[in-house]
Amino acid sequence: MTDNNRSDAEPPATVEVALGPRSYSIHIGHRLLDQAGAILRPLLKRPRCVIVTDGHVAVLHLQSLEAVLVASGITTAAVVVPPGEASKSYEGLSSLCDQLLAAGVERSDLVIAFGGGVIGDLAGFASAVLRRGVGYVQVPTTLLAQVDSSVGGKTGINSALGKNLIGAFHQPQAVIADLALLRTLPDRELRAGYAEVVKYGLIGDSAFFTWLEAHGPDVLACKAEALKHAVATSCRAKAAIVAADETETGPRALLNLGHTFGHALEAATGYGDRLIHGEAVAIGMAMAFRLSERLGRCPPGTAARVTAHLGSLGLPTGVCAIRELLPDAAGLLAIMRHDKKARAGKLAFILVRGIGETYVETGIPEEAIIGFLADELAMR
Ligand SMILES: NC(=O)c1ccc[n+]([C@@H]2O[C@H](COP(=O)([O-])OP(=O)(O)OC[C@H]3O[C@@H](n4cnc5c(N)ncnc54)[C@H](O)[C@@H]3O)[C@@H](O)[C@H]2O)c1
Ligand SMILES: [Zn+2]
Repeated sequence: MTDNNRSDAEPPATVEVALGPRSYSIHIGHRLLDQAGAILRPLLKRPRCVIVTDGHVAVLHLQSLEAVLVASGITTAAVVVPPGEASKSYEGLSSLCDQLLAAGVERSDLVIAFGGGVIGDLAGFASAVLRRGVGYVQVPTTLLAQVDSSVGGKTGINSALGKNLIGAFHQPQAVIADLALLRTLPDRELRAGYAEVVKYGLIGDSAFFTWLEAHGPDVLACKAEALKHAVATSCRAKAAIVAADETETGPRALLNLGHTFGHALEAATGYGDRLIHGEAVAIGMAMAFRLSERLGRCPPGTAARVTAHLGSLGLPTGVCAIRELLPDAAGLLAIMRHDKKARAGKLAFILVRGIGETYVETGIPEEAIIGFLADELAMR
């Protein structure tokens, strides 16, 4: 594959999410915002939609989206919510729903979720409950949202008792992933999203992981061809899993590789700037590989290969940088037990037999996990 930066040289890719009457297309390409009107027109009952975005994205990109839609004869209104996880709250939801109603959204109208995962989750959930359900389209603007949160229909907000505990499955009618929007994304956010890209290689596609080992730097440099390949391959993987298990009764759980540990680390560090989601997932995936090796489930050296790749692209693979914010091993385990993925008192771990071979294991004795966590906490 040759890499280049010329956006016009790259035709868009389309990935279908096959869910019967709830099927939709993911459009992936450079400067795809220019085609948003053409993609949206057939989905609209009347030429009007409301864009939901956050303050950062509004400043950088809202005018472009509005201009394109207006040029296609679509009238727009915009609701701008404060950037950050705090908007995924009851208050944020109530304020957004009221603003959408005030903007005149009717049952047959479309809401456009224009932002990262926070906007996708919040606007998606508002769409699920507003007037008992209106349609929405995801226009993701972070790498994490383009490869993960905008696909699959999980929407929701946080409760004081935990993240994403209030929500609904509500599939979008289309996803428009404009890769050019990622150029304004802070480096750290781009890298964090890249951790989720690596996840798809690790859970089911060792050839993709090998490709990432060679082309990861091009992806992070937003080189056109490499970025499109990475996003399209990730979306294809997620679409296949979602099509097989829309509401996570089985294989969709594999998408949580690294997340049982990752969520515990995020919770312990207060969901703040010290550790953002993708960084927690990078550490969590490295831990899942180390635990798998320790239990003899995968060949020695596999974890080292994974951490070498993540580390070479500036992602953390152990807890030493956040060590002073963490409780002891028993404390971490207690946080993991609170996570919604603990079923019937048993902790489920996504473990690996090798790169690209993931499975769920529930019977690991508590002492083994405590011993593992203690060693992780002591690692330099
Ligand atoms: N629904 C799902 O399946 C799913 C999956 C994974 C994560 N999530 C959720 O996604 C959220 C995290 O998403 P995120 O990482 O995209 O965070 P985010 O939405 O908070 O975006 C990160 C930051 O980047 C800014 N930003 C967004 N696009 C930008 C751009 N193009 N240029 C410059 N700045 C930009 C935002 O304003 C924000 O400050 C979490 O709430 C998580 O729970 C949901
Ligand atoms: Zn994640």
